[in-house]
Amino acid sequence: MTLRIGIIGCGAIGQDHARRLHFKLQGATVVALNDIHREATEAFSEASGIRARVYEHYQDLIQAPDVDALLIASWGPAHEEQVLACIDAGKPVFCEKPLATSAAGGLRIVEAEVKAGRKLVQVGFMRRYDAGYRQLKQTLQAGTIGDALMVHCAHRNPSVPEMYVGDMNITDTHVHEIDVLRWLLDDDYVSCQVIEGRKSRHAHAGLHDPIMVLLETRQGIRIDTEIFVACRFGYDIQCHVVGETGVASLPEPMSVPLRSQGRQGGAILMDWKMRFIDSYDVELQAWIDDTRKGLVTGPTAWDGYFASATAEACVEARRSKSIAPVRIAERPDFYARA
Ligand code: NAI
Repeated sequence: MTLRIGIIGCGAIGQDHARRLHFKLQGATVVALNDIHREATEAFSEASGIRARVYEHYQDLIQAPDVDALLIASWGPAHEEQVLACIDAGKPVFCEKPLATSAAGGLRIVEAEVKAGRKLVQVGFMRRYDAGYRQLKQTLQAGTIGDALMVHCAHRNPSVPEMYVGDMNITDTHVHEIDVLRWLLDDDYVSCQVIEGRKSRHAHAGLHDPIMVLLETRQGIRIDTEIFVACRFGYDIQCHVVGETGVASLPEPMSVPLRSQGRQGGAILMDWKMRFIDSYDVELQAWIDDTRKGLVTGPTAWDGYFASATAEACVEARRSKSIAPVRIAERPDFYARA
């Protein structure tokens, strides 16, 4: 059975995912599109060759009998309402991060899914599907460096647009570390702290950059992450896990080591899109395969809620300039770890 997919939100990543699902991956076809910019969506449908039906209202798209599953890639504040509508319709949904823009919103989705009695929601935390992070997790699970004690991370971006302001370095950027480190360490967070570094002259007016986020896990692992989104030199993701007998690091993206013109080195990626490009394919192929079997094995609504609640705690810690607790509701058995 080919999975017939409807996409809500056809901007940058919505269009990328539409092409991926329709032309590249196996077992799915895109049959329906919706976006608040209808004309642009019709133009995309035509120009891309997908030629899906364009719906004026996302509710009608969700209800359409020829739509088996949904992919939501609208802007973050619309996700909660749209995911709830999918659960209400009993249809599987892949929602790009964030699942919700508040902890309360994430919890409402969790509660709705538990009430529905069936896992329907997967959240777009694609780093869990990255080959490098998977190798790192295998190394930790093999016990090669003993128990993890500390983790040093960096999330650096050459620049961000003027509309990227305020706490977006936490809610849009650090949220990827929040999810992937929880998965990597198989642990949960209990507290957080945010420290602002000396402001770079390249950071625009509405943004304090760089910052450092400190997380403490239930097992007592300490994580520090530098978030520096006007670093100029490249899109650079670092993750070094310090264990009892060694250090295990996230592999660097492949690049040709050069010795040339009196220097040695290699290229650093500049475009964030390229860093995890392969993991989007792996993530969505897994989602298609799981959905056809009626399963959710990727990041769940609980993981999405946890990420939103942790990000919210980090924002609170930043405001209060102190260590803030990460307050999490009791996890329903429904989401028990495997
Ligand atoms: P974008 O701004 O290019 O596209 C968003 C689209 O949603 C726009 O076309 C807009 O018209 C549409 N939209 C807004 N409100 C809507 C509504 N109520 N109903 C239907 N359509 C609506 O943004 P982009 O970069 O494509 O991001 C979309 C989402 O994907 C965001 O939540 C973002 O955080 C996430 N994202 C995730 C990435 C990842 O690495 N997992 C990478 C990039 C984005």
